[in-house]
Amino acid sequence: MVYQATASAPVNIACIKYWGKRDTKLILPTNDSLSVTLDQDHLRSTTTSRADPSFTKDRLWLNGTEEEIKPNGRTATCIAEMKRLRADLEAEKPNEPKLSQFYVHIASKNNFPTAAGLASSASGFAALVKSLASLYQLPSTPSELSLIARQGSGSACRSLFGGFVAWEMGSSPDGSDSLAVEIAPREHWPEIHALICVVSDDKKGTSSTSGMQRTVETSTLLQHRIKHVVPERMKVISEAIKKRDFNTFAKITMQDSNQFHAVALDTDPPIFYMNDVSRAIISLIVEYNRVSVDAGGPLKAAYTYDAGPNAVIYTLKENVKEIVELVVNYFPQANQFKDPFGLFGSDGVQGN
Ligand code: PMV
Repeated sequence: MVYQATASAPVNIACIKYWGKRDTKLILPTNDSLSVTLDQDHLRSTTTSRADPSFTKDRLWLNGTEEEIKPNGRTATCIAEMKRLRADLEAEKPNEPKLSQFYVHIASKNNFPTAAGLASSASGFAALVKSLASLYQLPSTPSELSLIARQGSGSACRSLFGGFVAWEMGSSPDGSDSLAVEIAPREHWPEIHALICVVSDDKKGTSSTSGMQRTVETSTLLQHRIKHVVPERMKVISEAIKKRDFNTFAKITMQDSNQFHAVALDTDPPIFYMNDVSRAIISLIVEYNRVSVDAGGPLKAAYTYDAGPNAVIYTLKENVKEIVELVVNYFPQANQFKDPFGLFGSDGVQGN
């Protein structure tokens, strides 16, 4: 009998950023956050887990290379938590095979550059937890699984849902209420699209773990943000999503990206995640929006940046073609883009 399961999970990109932990072991955040889960095939992690009585230890391969599972590290914690849930199930159903007692081998693949500020840890830990839940035949809901994925990488908890997702920071010291909830499914607002501008696929300089820790220890702006800014923004953006109000969604998304990077700059020593190309893309989107607003129209696009220089541009489907043409025009080196919606017809804007 082969006990094996495969699951995949997509990347999510936050509009209200998670930045700061109040508990580093349980990964409990200092503020709520909210993201959109990208539903395209280009940005996913796919993970296969296998349990077998002949295995002599838990092992993990990432993109074909074996990685050490550090004792008490994040991967070990997620595996242990999933085995605990399986053991509970086996206690209730004594006829089930005792998979919780077998070691597991886990192989995960990303179809995009790892650690380039494209939230590979989010899709990675979400896929890992989903594949183990499937292997162990657990009846858990996405919110329940989010409690475990969160302990792998905070933002991973939001990739258990598609669509528009909030991570409620919770208040319990044991983390039992720090979980992901759905704000709206993808179908609620299918017109929203995300354009990913890969400015650089180098590994990022300051990891989110060490960056957050330094920010929590040194930034006074972070304290203002978590107390006086994020709670209101969460309410307003959730409402905007429910009403499909792109203007408000875009305004808050850009403000929150700006404040996250301001908080990074307010860290001692300062952290710079964006580069000159990132800032040029901001100027382009600001100008694009200004032309629309000056003509009495709404904001048409929103930029946002995570812990790296790559831009994600949220917009409505009707503007995608125009924005890609704009980006390619101003950044002629941006001559490679994927066109998953067939918006450019067979010839595309650029041949290659
Ligand atoms: O989950 P981590 O440790 O990769 O942190 C992610 C932090 C940001 O991507 C910058 C913001 C977010 O909410 O995803």
